Amino acid sequence: MSGAGGRAAVVAGLGGWVPPTAVTNDALARELDTSDEWIRTRTGIARRHVVDPGTATGDLAVEAGRRALRSAGTDAADVVVLATSTPDRPCPATAPEVASRLGLTGVCAFDIAAVCTGFVYALGVSAGLVASGFARSVLVIGADTFSTILDPADRTTRAIFGDGAGAVLLRAGDPDEPGALRGLQLGSDGSRSDLIQVAAGGSRQRSTGLPAEEAATYFTMDGRPVFAEAVRHMAASVEATAAALGGTPADVDRIVLHQANARILAAVAERVGVPLERFPSNIERVGNTVAASVPLVLADAVADGVLRPGQRVVLGGFGGGLTWGSVGLVWPETTPG
Ligand code: UT7
Repeated sequence: MSGAGGRAAVVAGLGGWVPPTAVTNDALARELDTSDEWIRTRTGIARRHVVDPGTATGDLAVEAGRRALRSAGTDAADVVVLATSTPDRPCPATAPEVASRLGLTGVCAFDIAAVCTGFVYALGVSAGLVASGFARSVLVIGADTFSTILDPADRTTRAIFGDGAGAVLLRAGDPDEPGALRGLQLGSDGSRSDLIQVAAGGSRQRSTGLPAEEAATYFTMDGRPVFAEAVRHMAASVEATAAALGGTPADVDRIVLHQANARILAAVAERVGVPLERFPSNIERVGNTVAASVPLVLADAVADGVLRPGQRVVLGGFGGGLTWGSVGLVWPETTPG
């Protein structure tokens, strides 16, 4: 992942943000046929945060982006990449507006849609922009507001998903210095695209003019097969990145995965033969925040002292598409902004 001139993308700053309104399991149970006990034991989640009406993904992305810039001690970036599957509107992309609101007028800015793998995909693409010499710095943001696309009557998805945003500032640096991204692995399997989807609203099934029940604009997920695929692909991806770094998952100090379900983290830990204690988790506090998940758990792990400078880290994700991926680095000195 280093370019011709030996340039690599290096993590220089980190920030996370969740909206203030929290929804506890008990609050959900007052509305739906569910319970705190079911949600905790099946997912590990105690609460999630949701946006109030009028707040959009771009608003969260601006907050997280501002924090990552502050953490890096800069107010500049050459590129803004926003990973999201809940853009402010279907067209245009949300990233240019986020860039402008951050004072980054005129920069290259675009969205990436890889659902829960979005942030890892965005890191990979951004690292390539740095390594090629195109950009000296990239603000990589993952932000989603799945509360805006969930079926209010679907107790399963309502229990899991929460809103949030996280961001990392990448700068050009040396491939051997702490923070340099290495061992990128990305993959997809489009034959299983129906497992995680919003069926309508795109060009295949237009929502215009259809009655609401036919429009199928709500998010749907087939939980059981997704669970199995998540375990299989995240374990294989972590193993591939560890191998690219010259070792095995056992050589990695912290495996920071997309927070889909606490039982998925436990199953991946077992499959790769690494103690669960090395998998930082904030799912109890924020649930599954989709593209925001990896940078949010990074920010929380640093703030909690669970992730420390010098530790060997693999970041990994899995999500709709299906998509998956991971990347490695030695954790640098950072203070979340
Ligand atoms: O972010 C990346 C992609 N997403 C994931 O990786 C998520 C992967 N999947 C999962 O995490 C789990 O499959 C779920 C948490 C979604 C569901 O857990 P599960 O243990 O696989 O449950 P299930 O779907 O097999 O359902 C078991 C039962 C069902 O009832 P019956 O048919 O046995 O009577 C569900 O209707 O649990 C029921 N159920 C609930 N009960 C109470 C489903 N959701 C709830 C709920 N409260 N919130």
